[in-house]
Amino acid sequence: MSLLNGKRILLGVTGSIAAYKAGELVRGLRAAGAEVRVAMTRGATEFVAPLTFQALSGHPVHEELLDAGAEAGMGHIELARWADAILVAPASADFIARLVQGRADDLLAALCLASPVPLVLAPAMNTGMWQDPATQDNVRTLRTRGVLLFGPAEGEQACGDVGPGRMLEPDALVAQLGEIFQSGALAGRTVVVTAGPTREPLDPVRFLSNRSSGRMGFAVAQAAREAGAKVILVAGPVSLPTPERVERLDVETAAEMLSATIKATEGADILVATAAVSDYRPREVAADKIKKDAEELNLPLVRNPDVLAEVKQARPGLFCLGFAAETSRLEEHALAKLRAKGIEMIAANRVGPAAPEAGGTFDSEVAELTLYWEGQKEALPLAPKDRLARQLITSLAQCFEQWRAEPGAAGRRVVSLHATRKAGSGEGG
Ligand SMILES: Cc1cc2nc3c(=O)[nH]c(=O)nc-3n(C[C@H](O)[C@H](O)[C@H](O)COP(=O)(O)O)c2cc1C
Repeated sequence: MSLLNGKRILLGVTGSIAAYKAGELVRGLRAAGAEVRVAMTRGATEFVAPLTFQALSGHPVHEELLDAGAEAGMGHIELARWADAILVAPASADFIARLVQGRADDLLAALCLASPVPLVLAPAMNTGMWQDPATQDNVRTLRTRGVLLFGPAEGEQACGDVGPGRMLEPDALVAQLGEIFQSGALAGRTVVVTAGPTREPLDPVRFLSNRSSGRMGFAVAQAAREAGAKVILVAGPVSLPTPERVERLDVETAAEMLSATIKATEGADILVATAAVSDYRPREVAADKIKKDAEELNLPLVRNPDVLAEVKQARPGLFCLGFAAETSRLEEHALAKLRAKGIEMIAANRVGPAAPEAGGTFDSEVAELTLYWEGQKEALPLAPKDRLARQLITSLAQCFEQWRAEPGAAGRRVVSLHATRKAGSGEGG
């Protein structure tokens, strides 16, 4: 059964050339079992007539905020309360800017402001508008407030430009919207997520570190929260906003990450270790800044603790998912890591020159992963990290439940998950 079955979706349509695709979206949502009401901005009505959406949704379209007749029926607050989720598709640059300001001078903006339910935006605009720092700042701000963004996709645009800014295709939006209703899969669970790099000081101003941005871990923390878990995020030094309602512990070195994670996992159910912990640290930390007197400088390094392996050893009842970022022989290295650390599950990804399509993955917005579990595997294809994180949490939650119920059979579950995912996915162009 579709995850959207019986869900009430308020579809907001704004003034973008992609508004014509919203008709197809209404059909797709209804075909998935959702009940759909449509609210349009005045700009949107210049592109598509409200009658189109009235016919497709089977309900009158909501347009005006100050409409006594509409208030006598389903008023704007009632409509905001009615919805299980609000999807604004297409979301124009101007509408996104209005949301950032918390404006409520048109019906759709007022609904978004008044409603406590998940708000999802599917931006659609010219590449220049999307890439402009104003839009990028606006999007960042909305993300920190918990607003979800689906897309935009890259490709040829109505104006002839090629680049990011196209609205995701309706079938991809329907599939992704369904994923947010997986909430509850981790209800009552405590999930600890480690993220980012560590920094190993050399002297008071220098350190050894790596290219990890922390994005994957932060996305996993947000997805686990959305799935109902209590989430503690142990973060190395990254410049990312803390996802809504996630407890964050900031650390710097591998040793600090180990002690914070040991503490955080007390009473926890699941650990997702995405952090790229430095394997080595300088044997000594110079008290003063090291001077460039010598032609050659040798820095003896010593092994850092293996955070994941040590936490698993200290807490054998904890379900542990590790990450393996590899530049070559992905499967071999990932499986070796799974066994060596004694963990339940591992998510492997190619990094560096081996992953050009994922921008090297570390500092990229997109990635692909392969999950390994008891000799089974599941591929999660290239996708934005927030979407990938939601897919990862879905698989993790099911494997975790299976592991608790019947440890030996959990591998079979991954195979069936894989089949379901293939049938249900559809990344937009
Ligand atoms: C032909 C045409 C196409 C447009 N397409 C887009 C678009 O795809 N995305 C966008 O953000 N703005 C687009 N605009 C500009 C918006 O319609 C304009 O910013 C409007 O104020 C948006 O209002 P709304 O967000 O209240 O619907 C377009 C304008 C015109 C005239």
